[in-house]
Amino acid sequence: MNLISTPESVLAVALAAMERTPDPRLREVMAALTRHLHAFAQEVRLTEAEFERAIGFLVDIGQATGPKKNEVVLAADLLGVSTLVALLNNPGHAGGESPAALLGPFWRERAPLCEPGESIARAGTPGVPLEVRGTVRDPQGQPVAGAVVDVWQASPVGLYENQDDSQPDMNLRGRFTTDAQGAYFLRSVVPAGYPVPTDGPCGELLRAQRRHPNRPAHLHFMISQPGFKVRVSQVFADTDENLDSDPVFGVTRALVGRFELDADGAQARLQHDFTLEPGETVFPKAPIP
Ligand code: BEZ
Ligand code: FE
Repeated sequence: MNLISTPESVLAVALAAMERTPDPRLREVMAALTRHLHAFAQEVRLTEAEFERAIGFLVDIGQATGPKKNEVVLAADLLGVSTLVALLNNPGHAGGESPAALLGPFWRERAPLCEPGESIARAGTPGVPLEVRGTVRDPQGQPVAGAVVDVWQASPVGLYENQDDSQPDMNLRGRFTTDAQGAYFLRSVVPAGYPVPTDGPCGELLRAQRRHPNRPAHLHFMISQPGFKVRVSQVFADTDENLDSDPVFGVTRALVGRFELDADGAQARLQHDFTLEPGETVFPKAPIP
């Protein structure tokens, strides 16, 4: 009989119970997760109070999730797991650094479709005007025409439109299409750094860990074209003081953009190119509606 005798024997019995899972990948993933969870509880000698606190945290992040934010995605981001999964699944071209970044909790589907050169900063959004240009290419360097460049960013006061009643719906979000040369061109305002949401259980964790919540200024991109993997990326302002202390560990060298500011500070420009890898075009599930 498969009865429990010691703390260690729980693992063997639990793994044996999961052996009959017909889906081989589910069987593999759940067995590994269970082994690591048991090893973790053993390593720290998890107390009953700590276990209760951990369960409470999971319940709290679920309950703090709603139309305005996704606290579960935020928790994965703050542990570095989202960045890890992005880098694991999107190796760089020819052994280079990965051009991928975590999606974050604020991407929304169906951003407005925009003409080349249109500004996503609507209704008088303040900020230094920014022009962003670049190309989308395949791994052989050939232009990808008709690719959709979906871009989103926080306002210069550091809030996404869905967090801020003073911004119009879908402000600072737009979808652009590359031309026959694979080029895209959009206008916006220079992004500012901003804190990840700190009003929920994740904020409490950050404070307990004495970690600051401020993401370096960035633009988010999602590039798609049938026949290619969806590229989720971010481009960071090269002058930001928090590049090496992003609370969600999203900054790699490949993602630091070259923002150029005119001498009078009145206009900024960014040039950033993307490469798509052939593959299945699968969009992520939007963390908020
Ligand atoms: C963001 O860049 O939108 C973001 C990413 C992770 C956590 C919070 C915000
Ligand atoms: Fe962001």
